[in-house]
Amino acid sequence: MYQTLLTRNEAGIFYITVNRPEKLNALNKIVISELGAAIEEIYTNPNIKVAIITGAGEKAFVAGADISEFQQLDATGGRQLAAKGQELVFDKIERCPKPVIAAVNGFALGGGCELAMACHFRLAGSNAKFGQPEVNLGLIPGYGGTQRLVQLIGKGRALELLMTGAMIDADTALRYGLINHMLPLTELLPKTTEIAKLIMTKAPLAITGCIHTANAVYDQTQNGFELEIATFGTLFETEDAKEGARAFLEKRKPAFQGK
Ligand code: COA
Repeated sequence: MYQTLLTRNEAGIFYITVNRPEKLNALNKIVISELGAAIEEIYTNPNIKVAIITGAGEKAFVAGADISEFQQLDATGGRQLAAKGQELVFDKIERCPKPVIAAVNGFALGGGCELAMACHFRLAGSNAKFGQPEVNLGLIPGYGGTQRLVQLIGKGRALELLMTGAMIDADTALRYGLINHMLPLTELLPKTTEIAKLIMTKAPLAITGCIHTANAVYDQTQNGFELEIATFGTLFETEDAKEGARAFLEKRKPAFQGK
């Protein structure tokens, strides 16, 4: 049980809802630590196949790091806050072997935009607003925002958002490619769930392969093409790849087992 998160597993889809609506779901230390634990659950619980992260209420996904915790920070404290958050939550989501999808139901600012960007892809309600307003506080993003925003929307657009602290609406986010789909808020979770269910019909080890090879594009320590070749080869030895080819030839749906 978590203090600041609601979690539920519905037939393999693990819904994580950041639940501090009175503070627009701002990420304080407890939320970060609990998100870390919930993400660890995704890694370790075999009954979780796909995760969806959203925010409680109809106003905010996450309106950023909790600014009330900033006042006591010095250089070491600031570095630790960023480093721990990146390690336990943001990088861990990005590297998660199972898909993690953001369903952005309102403000996704600062750490909220960074949380959405750490997910493998994003859907948003038409009320969503995205931004990195840290410059208003004399800061820059600390949870990977400078890197992932450039990766997702390009340097020029990213630097404009980073330097102005301006918010963009869901329409603009769609046009920028920051989100894949924009929906009326009532359809946000149903559509996200539908995509999660479609992914769950595929071979889990191949899904993991998609995530890791796509991540390699942005990882200077890896050669993504070589990783693709190696992963492609390894997957041929899985039961699921044999089942996939067999099912195709027998004109039936494959029954994948994640082996
Ligand atoms: N940290 C701490 N508390 C936050 C917060 C944050 N990032 N974002 C919102 N809150 C709190 C507000 O202080 C307020 O608390 P209160 O009712 O105890 O005063 C409550 O959430 C509701 O927010 P409020 O500002 O009254 O809502 P609004 O509709 O007028 O404005 C925002 C919404 C998102 C524009 C505004 O809350 C905001 O600018 N938040 C900060 C965004 C930010 O800079 N994030 C990056 C941090 S690095």
